[in-house]
Amino acid sequence: MKIFLDTASIDEIKKANGVIPLDGVTTNPSLIMKEGKDYKETLKEITKIVDGPISAETISPDAASMAREGKDFAKIHKNIVIKVPMTPEGMKACRILTAQNIRVNTTLVFSANQALMAAKAGTFLVSPFIGRLDDIGQTGMDLIREIKTIYSNYGYRTQILAASIRHPIHVKEAALIGADICTLPYKVFEQLFQHSLTDSGIKKFLDDWDKLQKGLKK
Ligand code: G3P
Repeated sequence: MKIFLDTASIDEIKKANGVIPLDGVTTNPSLIMKEGKDYKETLKEITKIVDGPISAETISPDAASMAREGKDFAKIHKNIVIKVPMTPEGMKACRILTAQNIRVNTTLVFSANQALMAAKAGTFLVSPFIGRLDDIGQTGMDLIREIKTIYSNYGYRTQILAASIRHPIHVKEAALIGADICTLPYKVFEQLFQHSLTDSGIKKFLDDWDKLQKGLKK
């Protein structure tokens, strides 16, 4: 499974990419607002750090303007992928951009039928939002399972990008189901490396090593 970071923080991207090579990055208006920086400049900087799909989100209401925005973002770098919302206008924009060899990430996907429509519109990535479904009392992970089944039933090549990830269990379950990509907030990325038995194991080895050194000195 590919690991993307869901952030617009250059610092977080550099730190994570220093640990394992990130496969891509996803951004959105809320994440860029948190950083308070220029969107295009930030995207340009990200493309210099990570060699993989970097999602940039459109904010226009209609297909023609979304496509215009998308074309503008796409000029930044060949790895830029354009995020459009799962709406009929978003799907029209997806078709326009895809026809011009600009890859699309269909975002804000909350049902299997939406994911089916996105694949039919030719989207490169589909982003089901797991955590937000959990928030309203549904089982977000069921959606990943349904999309996986539908896409393999018909051989759609759209990649499933599990988004709105809130904790490591989401990551493990997405991997077990066979999601192509998981996009992680930095906090969840850090959690993937942690285990209390690893910490206590390191401590025990170091303590025993110290005891051995002290014994040898006698
Ligand atoms: O980037 C889209 C998605 O991952 C947002 O997650 O936590 O705002 O639901 P969240």
